[in-house]
Amino acid sequence: MLKATSVLLDERRIFKPNYELVEEAHIKNWEAELEKGKDLEKYWAEKSEQFEWFKPWDKVLDESNKPFYKWFVNGKINLAYNAVDRWISTDKRNQVAILYVNERGEEKKLTYFELYREVNKMANALKNLGIKKGETVSMYLPMCPQLLISMLACNKIGAMHSVVYSGLSVGAFIERMNDANAKVVITADGTFRRGKIINLKNIVDEAVLQCPTIETIVVVNHTGSDIEVSELSGREIFYDRLIEGESDECEAEEMDAEDPLFILYTSGSTGKPKGVLHTTAGYMVGVATTLKHVFDIHDGDLWWCTADIGWITGHSYVIYAPLLLGTTTLVYEGAPDFPDPGAWWNIVEKYGVTKFYTAPTAIRHLMRFGEKYPQIYNLSSLKVLGSVGEPINPEAWMWFYKNIGKEKIPIMDTWWQTETGMHMISPLPVSNLKPGSATMPLPGIEADVVDKNGKSVDLGKGGYLVIKNPWPAMFRTLYKDKERFVKAYWSEFPGLYQSGDMARKDEDGYIWIQGRSDDVLKIAGHRVGTSEVESALVGHPAVVEAAVIGKEDPIKGQVIKAFVILKEGYDMDSSLIGELSKQVRHELGPVAVIGDIEAVEKLPKTRSGKIMRRILRAQEKGEELGDTSTLEE
Ligand code: WTA
Repeated sequence: MLKATSVLLDERRIFKPNYELVEEAHIKNWEAELEKGKDLEKYWAEKSEQFEWFKPWDKVLDESNKPFYKWFVNGKINLAYNAVDRWISTDKRNQVAILYVNERGEEKKLTYFELYREVNKMANALKNLGIKKGETVSMYLPMCPQLLISMLACNKIGAMHSVVYSGLSVGAFIERMNDANAKVVITADGTFRRGKIINLKNIVDEAVLQCPTIETIVVVNHTGSDIEVSELSGREIFYDRLIEGESDECEAEEMDAEDPLFILYTSGSTGKPKGVLHTTAGYMVGVATTLKHVFDIHDGDLWWCTADIGWITGHSYVIYAPLLLGTTTLVYEGAPDFPDPGAWWNIVEKYGVTKFYTAPTAIRHLMRFGEKYPQIYNLSSLKVLGSVGEPINPEAWMWFYKNIGKEKIPIMDTWWQTETGMHMISPLPVSNLKPGSATMPLPGIEADVVDKNGKSVDLGKGGYLVIKNPWPAMFRTLYKDKERFVKAYWSEFPGLYQSGDMARKDEDGYIWIQGRSDDVLKIAGHRVGTSEVESALVGHPAVVEAAVIGKEDPIKGQVIKAFVILKEGYDMDSSLIGELSKQVRHELGPVAVIGDIEAVEKLPKTRSGKIMRRILRAQEKGEELGDTSTLEE
């Protein structure tokens, strides 16, 4: 049993492992695994043996051209083959691979054999649309089986996918689509959200007008609504029509270990979103190994990660890792509190979810409704809980631990990023836990907290979070922008990967993530770049200039606080505030939550004209302004 050493909300408390769980865990001895991880190449070589390779690799790690690392050099492999085809000849053939559930209580189950046939049909259809190895297919889809099928179909034929989160809107969509040069986009009529149907097709219709490379728009008729999909434009075709008559056999493309797998755009501190590029074999080894170890996946598990597939958590841990391990992945479409705030716990009980992975913002949201809802349901199937996306505050950790984990289920607070592809800093079920700390780097990973000069800080001190060794699921570059890749991640501290996060190491060596060190916001766990919001604001005729910072929010973690300089003749009244919020929402989507907009006369800038958001942040919090020597008059 897990035992609290104190009942007060104090970060010093330590929670011991659930020893019953540890007994059956893949990793029973953390120190021993850590020791193994020190021989990096041997460690990851062993982990690569879980897959079927078309041709074995010659060398685990090629470090000859840092930071352009290569993993599993010359190996040939296919992800979809290993995630789906491989299971068809085993007793998992008729096991459910994907369990789709939505907020209306509807469900759809796809066994591995059914998934195999669906993936093959779509793979053949994509080939018929002219998609070749190395080309990109964009997707703008809700959490529906066709999204997973389409992503796997891309892998099967060696095409890359670029999934755009369906909570992003027109402006964000255009930028990402054009950068990826996609010929085909797959979308749906709409998605279910809080009892409504949200139209997605109209966003795509508006966006593709400015996406010249798009030749075909594939539309999933998902909600059965009467949203009109005309196949008349010549560019549009229904998904069902597209795959009709396609063969359910399709040979897997032999991919080089380092062939590109997908692009996923994420916000950086400046300029355009970054096209994070992941490649094939290392990613497979990294995500499968971490899911297996951190959530201790076994046959018979029902895995539920609540993240949207449009983000890295969804890519790695809703679809790829669970299928690569041959487990059942639950895919949920809808809000956490619809039809009522017990919706998720109802699903846990109804299907017998064993491992549950969610985000602090969702926990804080559900906390508001009290302990009543989790108490209605039998949650005894649960064995491991997890959290990701932002620091989990001890109050939310405790609520999760008590009400969902019933004080005996450990919480895996996993720190990682779009760029890292896989969990990096996280406990394992065998770890001692401290509420709010992601604990320590996983075996095989070396993370540290350093000062400005790249020197390790003393225990107890804060600094920049860096990674010291390469890891298999690391991103290989930014799409079409090697220079930015090197500059943004590998230049500040030579030889080290700069995460962009601040952290502190406590006296036991536990890592406490403090948030971003750059101008990236985390709104409800979603990464939003200040520059993207600013350019949306400046797109409004009333705004001359804008600067955006994060403002603390009890549920969402952060929301947007915007400072704008207005053109003459405009006043910041409620109608303008409404218009500006609408403008941001239209460009970026509902992820960009505006908390506050303030009109100002001037923005603090450096002499070279860069906005000093640090000064705005300090002012907002009533803190000292710090070094202002570079501030213009
Ligand atoms: C933050 C999400 C504290 C962090 C997988 C990181 C976290 C950014 C945690 C990456 C955690 C993620 N504790 N902070 N457990 N997990 N973060 O790319 O600031 O959407 O840099 O990847 O989320 O966000 P991204």
